Amino acid sequence: MRNERDGAGGAGEEEAVRRLLAARPVMARDLPPFDPAGAPGDPRALFVAWLAEAADADVLDAGAVTLSTTDGDGLPDARVVALRDVDTRGRWVFASDEGSPKGRQLAAVPAAAMTFYWPAQGRQVRVRGPVERAAGEVAEQEFMSRSPLSRAAGLVARQSEPLASPGDFARALADARQRLAEHPGEIAPGHTVWRLRATAVEFWQGEKGRGHVRLRYERGEADHWSRGLLWP
Ligand SMILES: Cc1cc2nc3c(=O)[nH]c(=O)nc-3n(C[C@H](O)[C@H](O)[C@H](O)COP(=O)(O)O)c2cc1C
Repeated sequence: MRNERDGAGGAGEEEAVRRLLAARPVMARDLPPFDPAGAPGDPRALFVAWLAEAADADVLDAGAVTLSTTDGDGLPDARVVALRDVDTRGRWVFASDEGSPKGRQLAAVPAAAMTFYWPAQGRQVRVRGPVERAAGEVAEQEFMSRSPLSRAAGLVARQSEPLASPGDFARALADARQRLAEHPGEIAPGHTVWRLRATAVEFWQGEKGRGHVRLRYERGEADHWSRGLLWP
């Protein structure tokens, strides 16, 4: 890993960064209204409605979500993953390699948080709860549903290991594509599907006058959801 000292940008450069950010205040635009009185009893229904509205508004990668995990030392980590499903049991589904840092963190601490942000609507959704690993057949099916290129990338595995040279990855990917052409049913051994069983889901609707609306659902006994407003 390269180790270079920061450039001597100094105060002028810092000022430029501050000006860049100050010229782009968040939520300073007209955003859709959200009336929590009309919200459904189950957060999944509201999530799916907001996801569809984000997709209709052409939010890029509307199904991308920041997944936060914790390692065995209690240190948090986060990265973006693709949401694969939200099932009717209120579980948010994602997939990756079990040997990746996130896979190892989930093995050590099987709980996570997800944060969606859909800028076109000024909407954030937060989901948190314990994470369950799906059965091997589920992971296999999910892997086989992917494009050949995505499967080839999955076969390379080694996610987040140090890469000595970009050519190493290109060669590994080409090898994996060749292997897949010969054995189309090959499945990456570490490919894993996880399900975050939501215990709390919060919907946040931004408003340019700071009247942001926050609605939080909590899962209680017998999967009954209660909900209430939060101060913005
Ligand atoms: C839009 C987007 C979608 C992504 N989807 C996934 C995904 O579904 N699974 C995955 O393992 N990595 C995905 N990544 C890459 C991850 O952000 C991350 O780089 C990788 O999983 C390694 O994370 P880790 O080192 O924390 O395990 C995605 C990245 C972006 C920007």
